[in-house]
Amino acid sequence: MTSPPLVADRLTAITTVIADPPRVHDSAPSGVWGTSTDCYQFIARNLPDGARTLETGLGISTVLLGLWSARHTCVVGSAAQVDALKAYLLDHGQSHLDIGFEVGTSDQVLPSLVVDPIDLYLIDGGHGFPIPVVDWYYGSQFLRAGGLVIVDDIQLPSVHDYLIRYLNADPRWTRVGGDHKWLAFRKEGDFTLQEEWTGQDFLGPRRQPASTRLKSSVHRRIERLRQGWNNGPANTTK
Ligand SMILES: C[S@@+](CC[C@H](N)C(=O)[O-])C[C@H]1O[C@@H](n2cnc3c(N)ncnc32)[C@H](O)[C@@H]1O
Repeated sequence: MTSPPLVADRLTAITTVIADPPRVHDSAPSGVWGTSTDCYQFIARNLPDGARTLETGLGISTVLLGLWSARHTCVVGSAAQVDALKAYLLDHGQSHLDIGFEVGTSDQVLPSLVVDPIDLYLIDGGHGFPIPVVDWYYGSQFLRAGGLVIVDDIQLPSVHDYLIRYLNADPRWTRVGGDHKWLAFRKEGDFTLQEEWTGQDFLGPRRQPASTRLKSSVHRRIERLRQGWNNGPANTTK
């Protein structure tokens, strides 16, 4: 757990950076797309001192994770955004921060990325299916046991219906924070993400073909009718 003075400094940094953010996203009305302040505050409270971190996407989170990590890696598709962020850091006396920028779309960069084990991974790059899943699969392999993965924009079906549904079901990931926009999960142990469906009973029983489902349903109805008949005609209408 992070010490109270450190958390207080971090909370102040969030206010400072939000008030004067890196204007790196041309399409954003305020010049930058960010996640919610709550999410940054959660990171401020839960990131250990001297942490190593990873994110897909770039923005306010990159500045904050750079400030709070011993080493931060940012995977982003736009070289122009990286240049704008570096200029911001220079302007704000923060060019010494240990941030490694990996320029390229995450599906191209992450499979061959090499980083030391990380404490926290923020997934907030591409949001179309299957990119959040791809990001989770390749990036989460670096998470140490007890490390945190944070997924932003869970209001989008492309994020929620696949990745979040999976993480909610898998007992090896414990939900530890979040709201309607983002969620944080703790990785419970050191396990590989490459596994067969036979190790994923928590997803529920396999689907039956329609013909088998129909047969089972007819069989159940006949059984109920037979039981009702044996118990007397008065019970058959139940
Ligand atoms: C919502 S913004 C990130 C906001 C940031 N996390 C923050 O809190 O300020 C999304 C970022 O992801 C980048 N991006 C979009 N698709 C990507 C992809 N496939 N691979 C890597 N980065 C991507 C965008 O260029 C943008 O920088």
